[in-house]
Amino acid sequence: MKILVVGGAGYIGSIAVKNLIRQNYEVVIFDNLSTGNECLINKDAKFFRGDLLDFNEISQVFKNEKIGAVMHFAAFSQVGESVKNPQKYFINNISGSLNLFKAVLENDVKKIIFSSSASIFGEPKTVPIIEEAEKNPTSPYGTTKLMIENILSDYDKAYGLKSVCLRYFNAAGADSEGKFGEMHDPETHLIPLVLKTAKGERDAIKIFGTDYKTKDGTCIRDYIHVEDLISAHISALDFLNKENKSEKFNLGSEKGYSVREIIEKCKKITGINFKVEETERRAGDPAKLIASSEKIKKKLGWKPTKNLDNIVKDAWKWEKKM
Ligand code: UFG
Repeated sequence: MKILVVGGAGYIGSIAVKNLIRQNYEVVIFDNLSTGNECLINKDAKFFRGDLLDFNEISQVFKNEKIGAVMHFAAFSQVGESVKNPQKYFINNISGSLNLFKAVLENDVKKIIFSSSASIFGEPKTVPIIEEAEKNPTSPYGTTKLMIENILSDYDKAYGLKSVCLRYFNAAGADSEGKFGEMHDPETHLIPLVLKTAKGERDAIKIFGTDYKTKDGTCIRDYIHVEDLISAHISALDFLNKENKSEKFNLGSEKGYSVREIIEKCKKITGINFKVEETERRAGDPAKLIASSEKIKKKLGWKPTKNLDNIVKDAWKWEKKM
C-alpha cells in the first residue's frame, strides 16, 4: 500500500516515513519545506515539493501516484505565534487541509490519519484528559486543530471519508538510530532548549513560571517519545484498513513531569550542569496536561514502550549531532 505523508520532511513526519518504509509500505512525501528540512527527506521515499495552498500541486500527486491512505502532518504549530498572527494559522492550516481533503475525495482515497493536538482542550478541568473532555482551545493553533477534526467528522458523514485523529500531547525525543529529529527554527520546545543549554549554545534555560498550583510550582506535561507516537499512526492505519471506521484518540504516555523534573533529568543524562533562570509565566500555558490514553490502548492495542530516559537520551544523541 502506498502512503502519502504530507509534511514528511518535518520532525514527526520524517520519523513516520522511516518507520513506514521499515514496515514495507511504499511512501510518497509531499512537503513545501517551509518548516520542514531537506536533510530530513528520506532517500527511500518519492518526494514532491509542493504547497497545500496550491490545489493543483497536491492534486497532481494523486494523479501521478496510486495513494491508498494519507498521513497529514503539515501545519504551522507554534502556539505563541498563532496568538500574534492568527491569520497565518487559519489560512495555512485550514485552507491547506481543505485542499488536501478535496484532492483525497476527488481521487477516491478514503483513509486519512490527522495530527491533532492536546491544545484542542485548552485548560482542562481535570486530568488525565479523556477524549470526551470539554474542548476550549486557548490559541488559534488549537482552534485550527479542532476545526479540522470537525471538518473530518462532517466529511465522513457526507462522503464516507474515514479518519483517525490523533491528539498528540508533548511529542519529544528523536529517532533512536539518530537519523531524524527536531530542527525547529526558532526552537520553542522545552527539551531541545534545555539540551542546547547543556551543549553551551545558550547561556541559561528559563523556567516559565514557578507559581503554578503543581507539586513544584512549574507546569506539568505528558511527554511522549516520537517513535511511540508513530507506532500509534501505524496501528491507526491497520485499524482503518480493517474496521473502516473513523475515530479520535488522545495520545500520551499518561505520565506527567514538571519543567524542573525535565531539567534535572537532562542534567543527569548529559552529566552537564548549566544555568537555570526562573522567569514569568508564558501566556496561554495550562498548568497541567496529562493524557488518558486508555481508549487507544483498548481499541488499537497500542502502548508506549519508551520512558523519559529514552526520550532525553535520544534527543541528546540527536542534539550532539547537529
Ligand atoms: N518551557 C519553559 N521554558 C522554555 C520552554 C518551555 O519553562 O524555554 C515550559 C513551558 O512553559 C511548558 C513546558 O515547558 O510548561 C513545555 O513547553 P513546550 O513549549 O515544550 O510545549 P507546550 O506544552 O507548550 O506545547 C506542546 C506542543 C504544541 C501543542 C501543545 C499542546 O509543542 O504543539 O503542547 O498543549 F499545541
